Amino acid sequence: MLPLLPPLPPLPSLPPLPLPALLALGALLALAAWRRLRGPPEGGGRTPPRALPGPPALPLLGGAPHLLHPAAPRHLGALARRYGPALRLRLGGGDVVVLSSVETIREAFGRRWGACAGRPPSYLAGLVSRGGQDLALGDVSPGWRRQRRATRDALVRAQRRLDAILERQAQALCQDFRRYRGAPVDVAEDFAFRTCSTICSLIFGHLMPPEAEVRDFTRCIMGLLELWGRASVRVLDLLPPLRVLPNPTLRELLRLVERRDAFVQAQLQRHEVGAQASGGGGQVPRRDPGVGLWPDPGIRGGPLGPDRLHMALVDLFIGGTETTAAALGWAVAFLLHRPEVAAGVRAQLAEEPGGHRGLLGATVSETLRLRPPAPLALPHRACTHTSIAGVPVPRNSLLIPNLFAAHHDPDKWHRPEDFLPERFLEEGPGRALVPFGCGARACLGEGLARAELLVFLGHILRNFRLEPPAPGVLPSLEVTAGTVLRCPPFRVRLIALEP
Ligand code: HEM
Repeated sequence: MLPLLPPLPPLPSLPPLPLPALLALGALLALAAWRRLRGPPEGGGRTPPRALPGPPALPLLGGAPHLLHPAAPRHLGALARRYGPALRLRLGGGDVVVLSSVETIREAFGRRWGACAGRPPSYLAGLVSRGGQDLALGDVSPGWRRQRRATRDALVRAQRRLDAILERQAQALCQDFRRYRGAPVDVAEDFAFRTCSTICSLIFGHLMPPEAEVRDFTRCIMGLLELWGRASVRVLDLLPPLRVLPNPTLRELLRLVERRDAFVQAQLQRHEVGAQASGGGGQVPRRDPGVGLWPDPGIRGGPLGPDRLHMALVDLFIGGTETTAAALGWAVAFLLHRPEVAAGVRAQLAEEPGGHRGLLGATVSETLRLRPPAPLALPHRACTHTSIAGVPVPRNSLLIPNLFAAHHDPDKWHRPEDFLPERFLEEGPGRALVPFGCGARACLGEGLARAELLVFLGHILRNFRLEPPAPGVLPSLEVTAGTVLRCPPFRVRLIALEP
């Protein structure tokens, strides 16, 4: 039989050590053996390891294949079960830290928010955001702080008009559905169109663009996010040498970015004309009576520059259209699997027409738990040297919150893979839910998104019975790749109920 391994070469002979060195070496070995035998010091403390654990880096590629995995949220979750809820991947000489439990996510972005609020420099973000003037993808800077504050305040001001807008949009959605007369349809685009129209209505007020333009813009956003999530584009941030090669997907993405910008610019111009006609005349047409969502020109530090304003509006559309629409799609898909929950919600709404708590609220929470629309949120950057779970994290490390894995943690959730809205009727599990992230970079549209989900889903379940296209043909609930986690395409029959 052949030997499995070649014989080892003989060890080179070491020079004889002087007696004091031998004694010191012996003392060190004894100390190490004693520490091992003693275990961790009292009080539960342990000498923290120097680096977080993680899978070995591949030559040249490092940890990139893990990040580009076609079902990355699940794959990274599986790695977390092996290496722990804070694991490290190597990428181009730097560290990527993936956080997969609610505790590590809250520690990094809640408790250590100041240290973990940055965004990493990104070649792609620079291409699509006027050189990094973006709210969602931009790094922390005085200009970014003003942009975030102005957008947050504008959303708070818009709250007053929200109920009326949502009611109008939900009724229009039901009208659209009635036109299908119970035929099997894919409603993904209807949802995206209505979430996009809601934001248009909040931002542009009575100067709302014509419906055909909004439909076209909705398709543009859907296409943009789909291309942005493709591995052939994302790889350009992870492996810079590939940027020199021709990339048709990137070319298509940049074409959609031009269409996106043309739409936003056209609306801004329309409002400037409107504002001047109504005597405003300032850089930002805040006095236009129909408009509730312009960043306030009186913001601390002066009004937003044109690029910051443009990108804040872009982010409201990009952040708020597909995410909320994806959650609506998943809710319908899960309810087709469990029609008794839909019937239960309908019965509760019949008793208490405006009631948003109870089973409807629980259904929304369970949908966001099982399929968080932004499963890996957005990448953060450690602005300073910090630590997570007691382990040092070097400055400029990339931090990825795996919200999907945190929401499937078997230590936190009973039967984590199952759609069980009932679990949210009991006290307790809400704090382990983080679909909107947390801390300094938490989603700015959480209130708007939750209200939309409750009102839209409530209207749908009050007015329609959801049926599969044929008996037993149920939607796939598979998790796929993409920045936004969408349900695989499926069809549903919306059977109108008697009022
Ligand atoms: C179900 C719907 C939504 C979900 C699940 C969601 C989730 C998220 C998540 C996970 C983040 C990243 C947090 C982080 O970096 O740690 C985020 C950021 C953001 N979201 Fe949302 N979002 C939703 C809807 C909306 C809506 C309706 C808007 C606005 C109209 C919006 C605007 C934004 C903005 C502007 C940011 C960037 C915040 C920053 O970087 O400072 N989102 N969202």
